[in-house]
Amino acid sequence: MLNFAIRVAQDAGRLLRDRLGTTIDIGHKGSINLVTDVDLASEKLIREAIATHYPRHEVLAEEGGLSESSSEYRWIVDPLDGTTNYAHGYPVFCVSIALECQSEVVLGVVYDPMRDELFTAERGAGAARNNRPIRVSKTEDLIQSIFSTGFPYDIKTSTLTNLNHWANFAMNAQALRRDGAAALDLCYVACGRFDGFWELNLSPWDTAAGALIVAEAGGRITDFAGGPFSNYRPEVVASNGLIHERMIEVLKMGVRG
Ligand code: IPD
Ligand code: CA
Ligand code: CA
Repeated sequence: MLNFAIRVAQDAGRLLRDRLGTTIDIGHKGSINLVTDVDLASEKLIREAIATHYPRHEVLAEEGGLSESSSEYRWIVDPLDGTTNYAHGYPVFCVSIALECQSEVVLGVVYDPMRDELFTAERGAGAARNNRPIRVSKTEDLIQSIFSTGFPYDIKTSTLTNLNHWANFAMNAQALRRDGAAALDLCYVACGRFDGFWELNLSPWDTAAGALIVAEAGGRITDFAGGPFSNYRPEVVASNGLIHERMIEVLKMGVRG
């Protein structure tokens, strides 16, 4: 099933890459939450492949939601993670595919078609980038660390903006980034490019594959209080493990004036 997921992620990724820069239809799910015809085409390709090979499996994918079948297997799919980037021609986006068996993620695949980078993990078998094992960084101090995060689509109406955490991390870290594709952010923690990542309003399709890839690369993944992470809860803190408690402390800091 891992090979199947890899093949489908690469097929969908090629579709994203080939259509980048062509005329795309852009719709709105919210004032700043976009959906393009390429998100929909990628999801269609992935759903059709799963329906052909595993017709009884459930599919939970961002644009179409949960399929009606009932199986112990559930594919969790983000057909285009980084839609805002994509719509602007900013070449940072990916396809994310995970497989749950009896509510536990057993494999995850994230494919970045612009760099031809394939991140994979199987539970208990480690994580890899283009078939080579990856590990999280060894950074021990926040001041040596580079972090990534993202901002929620409801930032203009919610009290949970993430701007307080952004400010607190900016004052304690070496550098911060906002790259716009949460699944890739997690893979970058897994391979040591980022030391940590946090975000407060993610969905299962953003995190399912990347969270397993982080864990299998030796990283730690929790909620903002340091409690167990779940794909079905919005908060995620991922790190190399060594700086995790310090990240939780920063997330507990009050707002700076
Ligand atoms: C979004 C991206 C972004 C994150 C948002 C996600 P989408 O996914 O991962 O980095 O900040 O919270 O919703 O909408 O591009 O699939
Ligand atoms: Ca996403
Ligand atoms: Ca998406």
